[in-house]
Amino acid sequence: MRIEESRKDFPITNDLIYLDSAATSLTPIQVVNEMNDYDLRYRANIGRGVHRLSVVATERYKNAHDKIKTFIGGDGGTLAVTKNTTEAIGMVAGGIRWESGDRVVATVLEHHSNFLPWLRLREYGVKIDIVRPDSDGYLNPDSFESVISDKTRLAAITHASNVLGNITPVKEIADICHQHDALLLVDGAQSVPHIPVDVSDIGCDYFSFSGHKMLGPTGTGGLWMRRPDLKPLHIGGGSIESATAENFTAASGEEKYEAGTPPVGGTIGLGRAVDYLNDIGMDTIRRHEERLTGRIIDGLSAIDHVKIVGPYFDERRIGVVSFVMDGMHPHEVAHILDEASAIMVRSGEHCCMPLMQHLGLESGTVRVSTYLYNNPEEVDMLTATIEEISRKVS
Ligand SMILES: Cc1ncc(COP(=O)(O)O)c(C=O)c1O
Repeated sequence: MRIEESRKDFPITNDLIYLDSAATSLTPIQVVNEMNDYDLRYRANIGRGVHRLSVVATERYKNAHDKIKTFIGGDGGTLAVTKNTTEAIGMVAGGIRWESGDRVVATVLEHHSNFLPWLRLREYGVKIDIVRPDSDGYLNPDSFESVISDKTRLAAITHASNVLGNITPVKEIADICHQHDALLLVDGAQSVPHIPVDVSDIGCDYFSFSGHKMLGPTGTGGLWMRRPDLKPLHIGGGSIESATAENFTAASGEEKYEAGTPPVGGTIGLGRAVDYLNDIGMDTIRRHEERLTGRIIDGLSAIDHVKIVGPYFDERRIGVVSFVMDGMHPHEVAHILDEASAIMVRSGEHCCMPLMQHLGLESGTVRVSTYLYNNPEEVDMLTATIEEISRKVS
């Protein structure tokens, strides 16, 4: 499918300009139809019943599960379907048997979902080492070299910043971690939807992502594990091999991490979203967003009273662009964009308060984020509206 043809599959784009895909993406009609099909034609629980609906639902669920795993290059590991990235990261934080004196390395770039779970481990005597990015938000692998030690149990790093858009050098960081026998968790919430991802090439131990940011339904996401060595947070139906009144044996594979009824229709919908992304091609999506991002940055950087926060255009960034305007709160700018031109953007701290403090931007930023359904005309409307706002500031 050609990327330009995809717009018609997202009816919301007829009515407004959606530039908030980093928060959650739109969903194409094909994904909605796939989920309706489950609910209306073969809805049943999975892995339990022998009747025909249960057999079909189980097969479609497993099929979707496999597709999602392959999409991130994860065939060599274990994938647990989760409800989002936050839950996936919580499974790592809660699933390792921590010992007092263990250390975790995190960065100031992280979303709260990949920062607060590590801070909370201080209750168990775990110490946190924090790496700070340079003024453009880039993380230098040398700064990891200087903090990772043989006491480091885990490093937790975003693959792409949801505020500044920069892509982090996760492969180099994986090498450093493994020289010290430390585990690496990569938060792929912003990378999987936008750039080709191969977890085995990265060399990480855990990888988290959100289905709802990659054309899938809300309530879906995943945690990929190189080895299924985490203690499951929940236990119950579907996650054990056998049980007696005295004991139980946990299931050996992915089921171990999916206790209870999983989001069956949602996972099948996410599998369809993966097909959709594959039909267009992740390289094509990446190039399309690079062009749009260049256009946004060129446009915004030429406007008075606008300051872009983060890197200017280069190949180490995704289509997330943050900016601030002199004398205006980011929420005010976002309101005007909506009211004047029906443009949806995010404003505020983007669940990254430590980063905002590091940048000295306590009120946050205005954040524009693109996806495959955006086009150059929409980007031009954004810059024209910001130009209009800027004239009123002067
Ligand atoms: C980098 C990053 N990590 C984690 C999250 C949390 O994702 P979710 O709300 O799907 O759990 C987000 C959401 O914006 C994100 O951008």
